[in-house]
Amino acid sequence: MINAKTQLCCIIGNPVKHSLSPQMYNAAFAQTKSDFCFMAFKIINLARAIESLKMFNCRCIVVTIPYKQEVIKYIDKVDETAKKIGAVNCIINNNGYLTGTNTDCYGALQSLEEQTKLKNKKVAILGAGGAARAIIYGLKLKKANVFLFNRTLSNAKKLAEEFNLTRPYSLNEQINLKNMDIIINATSVGMEPNQDQSPVAEENIHQDQLVFDIVYTPHKTQLLKIAKARGAKIVYGYKMVLYGGIKIFELTTNKQAPISIMDKTLLKNLN
Ligand code: ATR
Repeated sequence: MINAKTQLCCIIGNPVKHSLSPQMYNAAFAQTKSDFCFMAFKIINLARAIESLKMFNCRCIVVTIPYKQEVIKYIDKVDETAKKIGAVNCIINNNGYLTGTNTDCYGALQSLEEQTKLKNKKVAILGAGGAARAIIYGLKLKKANVFLFNRTLSNAKKLAEEFNLTRPYSLNEQINLKNMDIIINATSVGMEPNQDQSPVAEENIHQDQLVFDIVYTPHKTQLLKIAKARGAKIVYGYKMVLYGGIKIFELTTNKQAPISIMDKTLLKNLN
């Protein structure tokens, strides 16, 4: 029960009303009898928000769109992973000292590695935004061969140069996806309210592939429905939230995360 010693944790962003973090973390805190509570705050002024949360001794600040990059200038330290990715999605407060990390990368890798090894696999990333950056960074560490596909080729080119990738493809050249072992959608295509859209045409997916969609609203995206119908293995986007969340829970409480209750809570709230 919330009492005078309970410490605040929160997610900040704009918008945040669709976030599943409060349900997931509060269920985990209750299960492990951890004296924290988790709220969602829609933020307009990021600098003032961080200052205020520090004043209230908020233990963990999860950061979402559109603040993952901007927040870096308001914290004391950025760890190596977040520095390389260029984005922070979790801040841990130790007595007023704020350290930023990035768990998106870990979340994506865990979701994939549950199903397959990544070393030497041909992996297609669709998208060249922040989410794509975090995943590419992780895949390179795992020694996968990464290929970029994006609507705007110039955006993909910059990213490909930075991470030393081969020439990127436009999404119109998606016939090349047929040669890939793994396809990851890191664009927002297929997200509600556009749940009828898929970034990949049916004929470019086959049964020897693994398809991971980081979009998790809806739970069963059009891309995953097509992939399943074609006989491919699929990974749901909520897994990235789950595994990233496990890391955040552990950083916050220094306890082992109750994975099963977090998984069940996410699924219950998605369906
Ligand atoms: P995030 O931080 O979540 O990755 P982002 O940085 O805005 O979000 O990146 C969104 C990605 O989705 C980009 O790669 C974008 O492609 P462009 O570089 O061409 O803008 C891609 N994207 C968004 N809407 C798209 C659409 N309708 N069709 C294809 N790609 C789309």
